[in-house]
Amino acid sequence: MKKNTLTFIDNRTGKTYDYPILDATRGPSVVDIRTFFSDSGMFTYDPGFTSTASCTSNITFIDGSKGELRYQGIPIEKLAKQHTYMETCFLLLNKKLPSKDELNNFDLEIRHRAFLHEGLRHLFNAFPDNAHPMATLSAAVTALSTFYDDHRICEGEKDYQEMGRRVISKIPTIAAFAYRHSLGIPFIQPDIDLSFTKNFLTMMRAYPGGKMHLCPNGHEEIKEIEVRALDTIFTLHADHEQNASTTVVRSVASTGAHPYVAISSGISALWGRAHGGANESVIAQLEYIGSVDKVEAFIERAKDPNDDFRLMGFGHRVYKNFDPRAKILKGLQDELRVELNLNTELMAIARKIEEIALNDEYFISRKLYPNIDFYTGIILTALQIPKSMFTPVFVIGRTVGWISQWIEFKQDATSKIARPRQLYTGA
Ligand code: CMC
Repeated sequence: MKKNTLTFIDNRTGKTYDYPILDATRGPSVVDIRTFFSDSGMFTYDPGFTSTASCTSNITFIDGSKGELRYQGIPIEKLAKQHTYMETCFLLLNKKLPSKDELNNFDLEIRHRAFLHEGLRHLFNAFPDNAHPMATLSAAVTALSTFYDDHRICEGEKDYQEMGRRVISKIPTIAAFAYRHSLGIPFIQPDIDLSFTKNFLTMMRAYPGGKMHLCPNGHEEIKEIEVRALDTIFTLHADHEQNASTTVVRSVASTGAHPYVAISSGISALWGRAHGGANESVIAQLEYIGSVDKVEAFIERAKDPNDDFRLMGFGHRVYKNFDPRAKILKGLQDELRVELNLNTELMAIARKIEEIALNDEYFISRKLYPNIDFYTGIILTALQIPKSMFTPVFVIGRTVGWISQWIEFKQDATSKIARPRQLYTGA
């Protein structure tokens, strides 16, 4: 009779070890090796967790070979086209899309919680003028934990929801303040009359009094299409299962630290250019390349094993066919090109890179395709968001994912402190 187990054989001794196979509702099964060390005295070795499932989760599903991404079973294409970021947040926090009333209440609560304690506002003065907004954002979210110390013990649905909604609504304010501090210009307070996404754009762009730039023809109001584009970008970033920053959030959660400290650690992890920092690096790289005729030389550098130059916005640990988020953004970019005056020079360079790389044996054989970050930069630039704020925009979208994963970790009775082992090679 067939057994749902996997057997390891130690060929040195002939001893066998049998482990249960756990089947997923979607995607690969796992071998449950939790007792492997106590059974065999050996560890498993998997740097970068390329074959290791670190938890069970029912939030987000990715099939990297098919280019599939779902939140709570709903395909990302449907969420991006038919739902708003606020609906997506509700979905991730509550495991279902909201009714009309639920959405209204949720949206109003998020608007009202967007203000910062005055004490937290003063924190920004401590940073140098040219502080990178990601550093300020991470520090300010750690500082947020001091204003809500009661959530150091955060248990039960009521606490989870309050803690989560609070940080989701305050992150855009903190991010916008971090940016305005870096320019030395006055902060713009949140406006409860504005939606989550329009409010963020307003806090970024407005002049004191909440007014937009004044031209001979009147104020340059924020266009509906701009709000929709940024809202879609937030939705596409909302969660991405066990990526590097989420793994950090879960690891910090496993130590019992304050949830906002776990989010702040996620922000720090996201900053790196192999992860969320890639969106800033993509535009910096396009600017550095400078013109279409130089693209081929840079592609050659990216392929040279002796050169550490990499094409930013290409490749992904999980997506080995295409990144579905990138596909949606490519469509959005085309749609916005005329209406938002997208930077044509940078777009031409990006197009050339795409065209060459997608037909080049080096990239094809390594399954390197454009990822989400390849397309966000050009759209964010058209939304008048500067490069240093690209990764903070990623943070705003991802906070709900980190919170949902933090809650799931807390609710899982099998959760343990994260404590990997090592293969010691020293003296
Ligand atoms: N340009 C040139 N070569 C590359 C690139 C690239 N962007 N990415 C991977 N390679 C090569 C790499 O040199 C290696 O070649 P070889 O087999 O000859 O040694 C091979 O492809 C496999 O690379 P890897 O580093 O082992 O792959 P990984 O799964 O560990 O890394 C990655 C994934 C995203 C870190 C990497 O592809 C990369 O650094 N990309 C550029 C940064 C980037 O765009 N990051 C954003 C990821 S999407 C946003 C997010 O979800 O965080």
